[in-house]
Amino acid sequence: MDLRQSFVEGMSRAATFVSVITTDGEAGRFGVTVSSMTSVSADGEGPSLLVCVHHLSPAATAVLKNRAFCANLLNHNQQGISDLFSGRQKPEAGSRFDAVDWRAGQGGQPLLADASASFECVLKTALLWETHYIIVGQVQAVQLSDHPEALLYGQRSYRRAVHLP
Ligand SMILES: Cc1cc2nc3c(=O)[nH]c(=O)nc-3n(C[C@H](O)[C@H](O)[C@H](O)COP(=O)(O)O)c2cc1C
Repeated sequence: MDLRQSFVEGMSRAATFVSVITTDGEAGRFGVTVSSMTSVSADGEGPSLLVCVHHLSPAATAVLKNRAFCANLLNHNQQGISDLFSGRQKPEAGSRFDAVDWRAGQGGQPLLADASASFECVLKTALLWETHYIIVGQVQAVQLSDHPEALLYGQRSYRRAVHLP
């Protein structure tokens, strides 16, 4: 196994939660599935998070132009939404947003219905690191649903967390 292959295999063993990054504004409405959404700080000027998105993803360039986005943490029954926003599954008609329930949040960003949590952010900074933009957002509002169990992805399949006694 070369270094890249062992890196990918090693990282596949890290079960991560799955989010859809949505954005709306002058660049249009876009969304992309990511496993890279991470909390940065609860105690800065405001809470902040980061997400790494491929530079060729239309959602990345739209976030940079719209200067706002929403990180929607999917619940464990939302595999179909993850597949839709990763391009694994095509919408039957229209756009990805026609195939899901969503509404605009207080900052105008798309909140996906029933997501475990939706973090509406303004863009604070972005760094292009080789293939991916590292995007840092400051959280303006958090929407919590009645579905706290997050969808996980690890060892190349969807999973859910089980409680260890
Ligand atoms: C579970 C899962 C996690 C993903 N995580 C990321 C990620 O963190 N960053 C990223 O750029 N793409 C990630 N992708 C790939 C994108 O969702 C997508 O397939 C790719 O960007 C092409 O989508 P587009 O047609 O919207 O450009 C992930 C896909 C899946 C299924």
